[in-house]
Amino acid sequence: MKTIKVKLLKNPYNIYIKQNLFGNISGYLKAQNLGNFALIVTSRRVFGIYKKNIDKSFADFDRKVIVLPDGEEAKTKTSLFRIIDELIRAGKISRKIFIVCLGGGTVGDVGGFAASIYKRGIPYIQVPTTLLSAIDASIGGKTAIDLREAKNILGTFYQPRAVFIDPVFLNTLDKRRIAEGMAEAVKYAVIDNPAFFNFLAENSAQINSLKPSAILKVIDTCARIKAKVVEADETEKKGIRTILNFGHTFAHALEAASCYKKVSHGQAVSIGMLYAAYLSAESGLCGENELYRIRDLVKKFNLPVKCTCNKTAIYAAMSHDKKNISGKFRLVLLKKIGKVEVVDGVSDKLIAKSIKEFNAFI
Ligand SMILES: NC(=O)c1ccc[n+]([C@@H]2O[C@H](COP(=O)([O-])OP(=O)(O)OC[C@H]3O[C@@H](n4cnc5c(N)ncnc54)[C@H](O)[C@@H]3O)[C@@H](O)[C@H]2O)c1
Ligand SMILES: [Zn+2]
Repeated sequence: MKTIKVKLLKNPYNIYIKQNLFGNISGYLKAQNLGNFALIVTSRRVFGIYKKNIDKSFADFDRKVIVLPDGEEAKTKTSLFRIIDELIRAGKISRKIFIVCLGGGTVGDVGGFAASIYKRGIPYIQVPTTLLSAIDASIGGKTAIDLREAKNILGTFYQPRAVFIDPVFLNTLDKRRIAEGMAEAVKYAVIDNPAFFNFLAENSAQINSLKPSAILKVIDTCARIKAKVVEADETEKKGIRTILNFGHTFAHALEAASCYKKVSHGQAVSIGMLYAAYLSAESGLCGENELYRIRDLVKKFNLPVKCTCNKTAIYAAMSHDKKNISGKFRLVLLKKIGKVEVVDGVSDKLIAKSIKEFNAFI
């Protein structure tokens, strides 16, 4: 088993990664002494596939399973209060409750949020079942729900007691969801680790076919990078965590411009990273070669490279982005593979020009 320590001053915890770990999770949970009642929060699809495994893995615990809708619909007020109501019901009998978030990033975000606000905080663990949640959302303690007005607008920083990553879950995930996760994996390689970038390029076939050794290496490397960044800047106050937003300013604009329908987050991140690399090359920060290396890598994971959305709409959405500091653009730009820089005050003109010309270059 691989164990990664997230060395936070107040709330340190471990990330455990192992094939078939979920089958033996009860032993680990008992050792952690989290409580005697597990409120298992999951999604419809995951419950449909893994119901028997859940019963078996949690046989030693008093438990209740809450099944939320699939996708972003899990991150609503309704879901949140379903969890809170269940916590209140379970708490009427003297019990020590903990929450298990078993699912993708949506389940992790809402389950973690409920854990953070119920009685000012009860323990929770993350058991991610998508590649994206295994390498990103389950680590770092950002919790949230969406309101109609905006995504992730209600949220807290609240760390889990542990993260249990079992790559076996990925075998039932759609191919396009694996690609989504790989967009974030490429992001980690670009911001932090040139050797990992080469590993991804050389092992794309094994990764796409979910060969256990290759996928374990992807999860382990990405989880270590995320843990390292979170340790350095737990609550995003120092600006260090900002580098995780590489490609995301443009990606969020693309998602908004397409009304969150045409492009998925991972596809948007793929194009967004290329846009950021193009902008970096245009600003003289890196060579064009770096842009083409990223393009060739995302293609290997069946991710798009060209932006097919309305360019005026993208510019408008980018201008509204929350990372747009005091009227100026704040962007994470590329120096070379493995090194990025947060740049404040990128000019509007350059942004507009590069949005127009980007497709021709890629
Ligand atoms: N907290 C953070 O730091 C952070 C970071 C990145 C993203 N996020 C959030 O994560 C969310 C996206 O998460 P996601 O990409 O995991 O999507 P998701 O949680 O919506 O899951 C995608 C779909 O796959 C299904 N699914 C999950 N695991 C499965 C499995 N093993 N087999 C078959 N189907 C399965 C789900 O039921 C759902 O329908 C967004 O809401 C985003 O805001 C949070
Ligand atoms: Zn992302």
